[in-house]
Amino acid sequence: MITQVTIDKIFETARIEEVVADFVQMKRVGGNYRGLSPFTNEKTPSFYVSPSKQIYKCFSSGSGGNVVGFLMELEKMSYPEALRYLANRYGIEIEETQQSEEQKEQRSRRESLYLVNEFAAKFFANQLLKGEEGVRIGLSYFKERGFTEKTIKDFELGYTLQQSDALLKEAQSTGHNIDLFKELGLIMENERGLYDRFRERVMFPIHNLSGRIAGFGGRTLRSDKKIAKYINSPESEIYNKSKLLYGLYQARKAVVKKDRAYLVEGYTDVISFHQAGVENTIATSGTSLTEEQVRQIKRLTNNVTILFDGDAAGIKASMRGIDMFLREGLHVHTLLFPDGEDPDSFARSRGAEELHRFLNEEVSDFLLFKTRYLLEEAEGSPLKKAEAIREIARTLALMPNDVDRNVYVRESSKLLDTEENLLLGEVNRLRVTVTEKQYKRREKETPAIEVVHAPTKVGVDLPLTFTQEEKLMELLLKYGEKAICFCMMDENGRPSEPSEEPELVAQYIVEELNADELTLQYPPFVSVYAEFQKAVLEGQTVMPDIKQFLRHEDQAVVKLVIDLTDERYKLSDWEKKGIYPKSRDVVLEREVRESVLRFKEKILQGMIEEKKTAWRENALDEEASMEMFREIYELSDMQRMIQRMLGQEV
Ligand code: UTP
Ligand code: MN
Repeated sequence: MITQVTIDKIFETARIEEVVADFVQMKRVGGNYRGLSPFTNEKTPSFYVSPSKQIYKCFSSGSGGNVVGFLMELEKMSYPEALRYLANRYGIEIEETQQSEEQKEQRSRRESLYLVNEFAAKFFANQLLKGEEGVRIGLSYFKERGFTEKTIKDFELGYTLQQSDALLKEAQSTGHNIDLFKELGLIMENERGLYDRFRERVMFPIHNLSGRIAGFGGRTLRSDKKIAKYINSPESEIYNKSKLLYGLYQARKAVVKKDRAYLVEGYTDVISFHQAGVENTIATSGTSLTEEQVRQIKRLTNNVTILFDGDAAGIKASMRGIDMFLREGLHVHTLLFPDGEDPDSFARSRGAEELHRFLNEEVSDFLLFKTRYLLEEAEGSPLKKAEAIREIARTLALMPNDVDRNVYVRESSKLLDTEENLLLGEVNRLRVTVTEKQYKRREKETPAIEVVHAPTKVGVDLPLTFTQEEKLMELLLKYGEKAICFCMMDENGRPSEPSEEPELVAQYIVEELNADELTLQYPPFVSVYAEFQKAVLEGQTVMPDIKQFLRHEDQAVVKLVIDLTDERYKLSDWEKKGIYPKSRDVVLEREVRESVLRFKEKILQGMIEEKKTAWRENALDEEASMEMFREIYELSDMQRMIQRMLGQEV
């Protein structure tokens, strides 16, 4: 377990605006930052980060939280994973409390899988840098390719030995659980026993966006055509191929800063570009592009440049894949390397300066590139040309932005030598179906926007008293520490003169509820309320600090506190009505008093309904029935009294 001292240090050091900026492009608006929600497909930015409060709030998904909650939600990290990520990012050393065997086992499964991958990566890196075979074969190969020591370290490259059980032995001798290695595909099993998957290969760890190692790619150094050039880790609980992009972890900051991503095909292309100073480069690792990957990129930038090898065979095949970028509203450029060259060889043979010049000067817009390409192919065949026009129209129809689309219709029609209106008509006809499809897809993917700011957790039923409890929580969190003079109320709700003795708002609420042996019921409220209750019962005058709850492990609590204390979007009644601060105490006094009553009234309503149901559903004898009836009558009487006090007509 990470010690509380470390956790505090992490929260004091980490800046949410910096951490979020690694994933989301944001602009400063007033004191806050605003950007497109990384959780939904929204087109208008409604995702906010507040540097002063150190929280984020997403109006399109209804979520919100602190820096840890952000990582947990976006990257599906566990609480300790998120803390470790932050500690790593800010160079904070993690102190851990001694763990018992049992606690060790409880560490989340995902965490242990990551640890196994990291253990393997370290072992492979050690072989590469220090082992006799690794240095002789692996390291000299990387050196030959021109990789520097820094590059090798940045990408955590490694080497696996010829020997078929090197990793297996290392894992066994250090007491690791071999099942985890099998799950990750690092160790395999056949009739003859266990053996290493990766042998005699240089190793490329594949990082997820938070820098944890999800899997590996291994390249053989033999030219034997029968051996697969690359073998990769299989999918696992932590390795989702369709989601990850190679190099995105190392590239993410540069992508945001340069507001562009270069997309290449292979591991070595990414690394060569990185070394040549083009750090905003990522790869699909041989598989075709997926929508999830496109969205990962879109979180960071709206501009991609796709780099094609000189052999051009892949171009046509990848065109449909590129359409995905257009559908998401990204601006796509393409760049074709000279014949026989790929990004890696070009970067190495021409050097950084020439590469930069090439990247800047030779790019062309993807759509115009595609138009020209199809036209060239259709040369001399009217049928093929008609087909090309339809294909271009189909691509144009995918573009969500009207202005962009119409500019392109115009440019493409010039190139195609067709009437602009003809092309536009075809595009618009296709758009109807595209929009429908997109709409349906979005509906399926985007979770329904949460109503109000209900911190609803799936599977947790809201108690009947939820609204009233929420109000009490809000008062406790915002004004718990405030001392005011409360009034008493008579049966008809007429308040007495305020008492001489001021009382804390929290004290009033807790004592009122205690007197009737009541407590809150909605789970995230319970733990927060308990803190206030404890402070009051101990006679403290300092109430729990909101900051403390903002660091709570339970993200439901964090979100709740943010929602309830977010002044900017939830003006209190008196602020809306423009009542002067002087009279605030009077309004607050009444609001606290009545909120307690409303809560009690709702509790009574619940009890009455429960009894009525029991009365209806159970065949009670006459005596029990009379007793039940009497109870219902008494409860109703109390309820009516409270309603009168609240000034409600009965
Ligand atoms: P390349 O053959 O271009 O590999 O395949 P490369 O990474 O540029 O390697 P070098 O330059 O020959 O050393 C491009 C990508 O396709 C995937 C890998 O991700 C590779 O980086 N690939 C290729 C495989 O997964 N398996 C293979 O057998 C070949
Ligand atoms: Mn290559």
